[in-house]
Amino acid sequence: MNENKPSVIELHDLCKDYPGADGPTPVLKNINIDIQSGEFVAIMGPSGSGKSTLMNVLGCLDTATSGQYLLSDQNINLMNVASLAQLRNRFIGFVFQGFNLLPRSSLLDNVAMPLIYAGVPLVERRARAQLMLNKVGLGSRASALPSQISGGQQQRVAIARALVNEPALILADEPTGNLDSSTSGDIMNLFTELNRKDGITLVLVTHEADIAAYAQRLIRLVDGHKVHDGDVETGLAQAMHIPTTGDAA
Ligand SMILES: Nc1ncnc2c1ncn2[C@@H]1O[C@H](COP(=O)(O)OP(=O)(O)O)[C@@H](O)[C@H]1O
Ligand SMILES: [Mg+2]
Repeated sequence: MNENKPSVIELHDLCKDYPGADGPTPVLKNINIDIQSGEFVAIMGPSGSGKSTLMNVLGCLDTATSGQYLLSDQNINLMNVASLAQLRNRFIGFVFQGFNLLPRSSLLDNVAMPLIYAGVPLVERRARAQLMLNKVGLGSRASALPSQISGGQQQRVAIARALVNEPALILADEPTGNLDSSTSGDIMNLFTELNRKDGITLVLVTHEADIAAYAQRLIRLVDGHKVHDGDVETGLAQAMHIPTTGDAA
């Protein structure tokens, strides 16, 4: 970590409860995290450890029960709904396990979609979406439908869509969860390039050690607690010695 770089994400004693039959159930427990611009961070943990909940909070799709979240130095607890939506749109790109493409829209229209919400005019939307499709190696398939391309290609389209607003931060929850290992490797190489060449800050959830190994920093969650934050190899080695209740997503 470079002390001179600005923080993209700062969590201070962040807690998240879900309502349960016997009262609130804590799911994230006093999480402190500081992620600086340009970092590539993997988040690992057993199923149910709170990874997706954490990603939803980081993406401002859900709010914490207590604690503080500073996104790009802005305290999101103090922001109104409209400015939060604007910050999220401008600043964060999302990539999901299931690609989440619109099945009846062309690849170009899928990638251009976030620009509609950003109020970008049609001609510019199409031009920028085409550039992003070129960037992920699918420039020649712009008019295809999602069903006409492979799963790995669909995830590339989803990455192009995440990039089209030129976000500083990409949040990816199990982005290779539906892909075979060779296609997963291609997607991870693409993420690595976006991080190294374009300086995009990347936070990626995975339950696979070989996917986490692409990152520069590993955060591990167990039962809502942060149990490791730092070196990837050390974190992976520790994980092997801790009994888990099934590491499936
Ligand atoms: N919307 C929700 N309402 C109640 N409990 C939830 C909700 N979402 C997740 N949980 C619970 O929170 C815990 C963490 O879930 P999650 O963040 O999805 O874990 P992970 O992504 O690590 O598998 C689990 O026990 C899960 O059942
Ligand atoms: Mg999950």
